Amino acid sequence: MTDVMIMAAGLGTRMKSSQAKVLHRLGGRPLIAYSVKTALELHPKNLLVVVGYQAADVEKAVKEEFNAQKGASTSHLIFVLQKEQRGTGHAVLSAKEDLAETTGPLVVIAGDGPMLKSATLARLAQTHIRDGNAATFLSVLMDDPTGYGRIVRDAGGQFARTVEEKDATESVRKIREVNVSVYCFDTRSLLDAADRLTPNNVQGEYYLTDVPQVLLEAGKKVGAVLHDNPEELMGINTRVDLAALERRLREQKVNDLMLSGVTMIDPATTYIDQEVEIGRDSIVHPQVIIQGKSTIGEGCTVQSWTRLKDVQVGDAATIKNCSVIEDSNIASGASVGPFARIRMQAEIGEDVVIGNFVEVKKSKIGRRTKAQHLAYLGDATLGENVNIGAGTITCNFDGERKHQTIIEDNVKIGSDTMLVAPVRIGHGVKTGAGSVVTKDIPPDSLAVGVPAVVKKKLR
Ligand code: UD1
Ligand code: CA
Repeated sequence: MTDVMIMAAGLGTRMKSSQAKVLHRLGGRPLIAYSVKTALELHPKNLLVVVGYQAADVEKAVKEEFNAQKGASTSHLIFVLQKEQRGTGHAVLSAKEDLAETTGPLVVIAGDGPMLKSATLARLAQTHIRDGNAATFLSVLMDDPTGYGRIVRDAGGQFARTVEEKDATESVRKIREVNVSVYCFDTRSLLDAADRLTPNNVQGEYYLTDVPQVLLEAGKKVGAVLHDNPEELMGINTRVDLAALERRLREQKVNDLMLSGVTMIDPATTYIDQEVEIGRDSIVHPQVIIQGKSTIGEGCTVQSWTRLKDVQVGDAATIKNCSVIEDSNIASGASVGPFARIRMQAEIGEDVVIGNFVEVKKSKIGRRTKAQHLAYLGDATLGENVNIGAGTITCNFDGERKHQTIIEDNVKIGSDTMLVAPVRIGHGVKTGAGSVVTKDIPPDSLAVGVPAVVKKKLR
């Protein structure tokens, strides 16, 4: 059983960001989450994560992913603080004390290579052990090797050293075989060699990439495994790299969804995060964005220019054009939009109709209730078969606090009614157009006027 180390202490200068590179998002998840997931699939005894820049935030993202992965329970999570980021060799060395007892192999990866597969790591570790190497690293031929360390081989084709792009001569820059920051080391040999690194390079850093050469010179065995899939090993250094991977992941995701029975009218303009689930025979129109942990049932339609984030949708629901829905539930058979906004744990019941320019915030809407046009329903609980007239507003905010509006079953709220919360509208009530309701209305009555008064019993 090997240990795994993820190096994630750097700022990521080339991102031109004040946020640590490994916290930038890909497919809706922080970059570091991908490396943590891959590492845990190896079931390491210890997972060491080197943190430094924005350590607390990075640790939080790591823990979230660690806890989300079942089976992680057998691995021990260790954070290693690299106070100053003086290079990848220095990052490894910061774990010296944590590795004091470790004698076996250590897989080391970077936190900015999200496409890496655990099977590749397992193969690397196998080769490393089989060949009795002190260090084994993965290399790959990149069509465009810009930004990567180049693998220099001797006349006999044996590995000689790695040269970082910034330290490379014109001829070395032409080499297409690159280092991808995926290694397996004998832990003791690694720490010995890391101790002997010098920052004699353009960046003045301690390079982990110098370790194999140091080991070779000490007469130890170094192996290289040439990997055949460059895409899997692409690292992210700039926002251009990030966008390129985002595009690739997105393609994969929409393809997977289509193969599982979802129709995408125009996959090229459909933006779906990695964790989203969509049931079969649902149709997603062009230019739709579905983010976070959203799930959509079977036979649904999501029309263009709509954005859903962390939304649960039942079966056979329709989300019409230009709707924005966040952190909410839409039950089966409901129709929402066009131009609807639904947010903050709103619960839209079965067969409900929420029409154009209707905002629903933190409200529960009962079955078959309709609010077809121009309304604001906030902090409200609506029963079943309620009809909300155009222009209705729950006046939930008194300037200091939010208050609840309760509308019972079978109520008809007339157009342009203001419901001044807290207020309860009894079942079967009708309100006249333009009324301002400031007091509770008893069931089965008609209330009209400003302020609204009960005119008659309806039943
Ligand atoms: C590194 C390799 C390069 C390789 C490339 C592949 C070195 C010297 N170079 O370069 O050969 O082609 O990855 O993507 O290793 N980090 C720390 N502490 C530090 C510095 C970096 O933890 O002091 C972490 C970063 O957070 C990052 C990873 O190490 O996750 C790699 O750092 P980065 O600066 O991206 O290295 P590259 O210049 O890309
Ligand atoms: Ca990198």
